[in-house]
Amino acid sequence: MLTQVQNVLEAAQEAIKTASSQEQLEKNYIDLFGKKGKFTELSKSISKIPSEQKAEFGKSLNQAKQQILAGFEKQKKEILSGGGKQKIDITAPGKRPQIGHLHLVSQAIDEIVDIFKRIGFSLKSYPEVDWDWYAFESLNMPKDHPARDEWETFFVKSKRHATLGNQVLTPHTSNGQVREMKRVKNPPIRMLNISRCYRRQVDVSHTPMFHQFEGMLIDKNVAISNLKGTLDYFARKFFGKERKSRLRPHHFRFTEPSFEVDVTCGVCLGHGCRFCKSGWVELGGAGMVHPNVIKAGGLDPKKYTGFAFGWGVERTIAMRTEIGDIRLLFQNDIRFLEQF
Ligand code: FA5
Repeated sequence: MLTQVQNVLEAAQEAIKTASSQEQLEKNYIDLFGKKGKFTELSKSISKIPSEQKAEFGKSLNQAKQQILAGFEKQKKEILSGGGKQKIDITAPGKRPQIGHLHLVSQAIDEIVDIFKRIGFSLKSYPEVDWDWYAFESLNMPKDHPARDEWETFFVKSKRHATLGNQVLTPHTSNGQVREMKRVKNPPIRMLNISRCYRRQVDVSHTPMFHQFEGMLIDKNVAISNLKGTLDYFARKFFGKERKSRLRPHHFRFTEPSFEVDVTCGVCLGHGCRFCKSGWVELGGAGMVHPNVIKAGGLDPKKYTGFAFGWGVERTIAMRTEIGDIRLLFQNDIRFLEQF
């Protein structure tokens, strides 16, 4: 019988020593001390041996059990400390956590703010849900004027204001023009207004929600040449040194004269190519602030003149990165966004 104890002890010690995980160790424990475990069976056999041998058999069983349990403890510590094959290689390169970045639109807004800040424009923010008066009427677009159609506006169901009219989701950042004149009261004014805008439009170059950035400068003796210089400065800083801007006659009710602003194409630099055809790509609207708008802002149009321009952030990004469809910017597809 004593040889049997010795055999179980040796087999157990061998199995414990080679266990390389806690799970394996637990399995070994059950194999020995479980209901049908080898050690349990051996202990039960005590009833079958002659009584004069029982004491010695019991003693050797106990000693074997103590040794086995000590072996379990030792091996458990070894496994937990990463011993044996599981040792940690402290020279191995670590796993880098995935780090995100700002959305392309936010990156562009930061860059645009920085460019205009350097020439004295300061960032302002005006309501996205605004009164008809600020979005249209104060901008020389009376109620029912057909020019309003171009802005394809979302109207808000709310109580009509006696003088300011209905509420709208602002279709352009020009709603900040009169608000800023009323706030500052004494020019010079150099405003950069960036906001979300909304229109009932969806296709490759239109989204129902988009961002515009609007610059406005009001002071004494402001001329078109100041507007042109500012636009050229922006084109060079944002698109590259070799890029130029040009003004094309256009019509807005709130600027006189009004222009569409083009920038030389990034592919052919103004020579004309398959992408742009004419050598120029359109950036947005601009013009000299209409005297009626200056009056609506509480200033004297005989004393002050100024210019304003308003462009879409998404279209401006698309022109630099050649994204063919600006809707991609808002589909939240990480495979697209992580490229920028
Ligand atoms: C305006 O919104 C005028 N307020 C711009 C302006 C400001 C003119 C100050 C004069 C003085 P327009 O509707 O053309 O103009 O829009 C200007 C730019 O906004 C467009 O060139 C385009 O870049 C962007 N834009 C307009 N609608 C959308 C749209 N649905 N999705 C994305 N970008 C748009």
